[in-house]
Amino acid sequence: EKGGYDHFMLKEIYEQPRAIKDTYRGRLLADEGIVRMAGIDQNMERFLNANRIIIVACGTSWHAGLVAEYIFEDLARIPVEVEYASEFRYRNPVITENDVLIAISQSGETADTLAAIKMAKEKGAFVFGVCNVVGSSIARETHAGAYTHAGPEIGVASTKAFTTQITVLTLIALKLAKEKGSLSEAEFHGYLTELEGIPAKVEKALESNALIETIATEYKDSTNCLYLGRGYNFPVALEGALKLKEISYIHAEGYPAAEMKHGPIALIDEEMPVVVIATRKGHYEKVVSNIQEIKSRSGRIIAVVTEGDESVKELADHVVEVPETSEPLTPLLTTIPLQLLSYHIALMRGCNVDQPRNLAKSVTVE
Ligand code: M6R
Repeated sequence: EKGGYDHFMLKEIYEQPRAIKDTYRGRLLADEGIVRMAGIDQNMERFLNANRIIIVACGTSWHAGLVAEYIFEDLARIPVEVEYASEFRYRNPVITENDVLIAISQSGETADTLAAIKMAKEKGAFVFGVCNVVGSSIARETHAGAYTHAGPEIGVASTKAFTTQITVLTLIALKLAKEKGSLSEAEFHGYLTELEGIPAKVEKALESNALIETIATEYKDSTNCLYLGRGYNFPVALEGALKLKEISYIHAEGYPAAEMKHGPIALIDEEMPVVVIATRKGHYEKVVSNIQEIKSRSGRIIAVVTEGDESVKELADHVVEVPETSEPLTPLLTTIPLQLLSYHIALMRGCNVDQPRNLAKSVTVE
């Protein structure tokens, strides 16, 4: 059942190239220059006339929503707000008939997300679901939707659900961008081709596994860890921190890199590992100067960089490379080493990787 892997989590991490392909199969038609998604086509007017898109979700799915916020605004020029379902449902939010709500949920059973959907429907919003589990409550409760087709995710720590959610949301953003004309034909085609090539690049990113295992031996006894990223990779930093804390019980926090000087920098000393996502596209110079600030305070730096990077190598204690891709797609690659790092650290600490204490795979109570 674990397909030769020791844990479901590891199996699911390694399944990502295949899972992402399954997600875009039949939808991403790069040669024809089309994104085909019935749930969007049939409701195109609702999306195009939307005042804004509100994304609701919890946990890792909320992080996928944050990545989507950057993608939708950048490519399709539609304003997006991302909300924790639990906060949204209880704060009397302003929702109108011109709003589109996208609910993201792997299980399709998360109580708070389901309640947020019901509320938005009552107020006349159009509700679109992005779920993995076919026929789940959220899939049934939404007006339309798109499945991620990641296959069953058993490990409590979400991995392939996250990358496939981002894949679906990217396809939606591209489809809307094409319809709105907010991307040139050349840009649109460029993204389709690049997305089609992502599974092979994820495969490449997975080749760092042995290196990451070595890095893990050095940090397995840490009590804290900081994750930093900017732009598209800020949500990836949040996701990396969540992954580490939920399975290894090490306290971890994710921050936008530039926020470091507004507080977290006070935590940095020679005991503090800082995982920094510093891919070449995306505020690279600024992130490099953040790395310098960490180094001058003797922090330990684990950097995720673009293949062939030279400048970060001189500063960081460890560098893990991912292949180059266009900026909006970098989260699909930078997430991989962070998943592996949390997996190895948790394992070395003797934790139950697939079933961490106190957690359930689907949170059906609030
Ligand atoms: O099934 P959902 O996507 O709605 O679940 C949301 C969260 O409970 C889930 O992502 C949780 O945060 C994971 N354990 C994270 O790995």
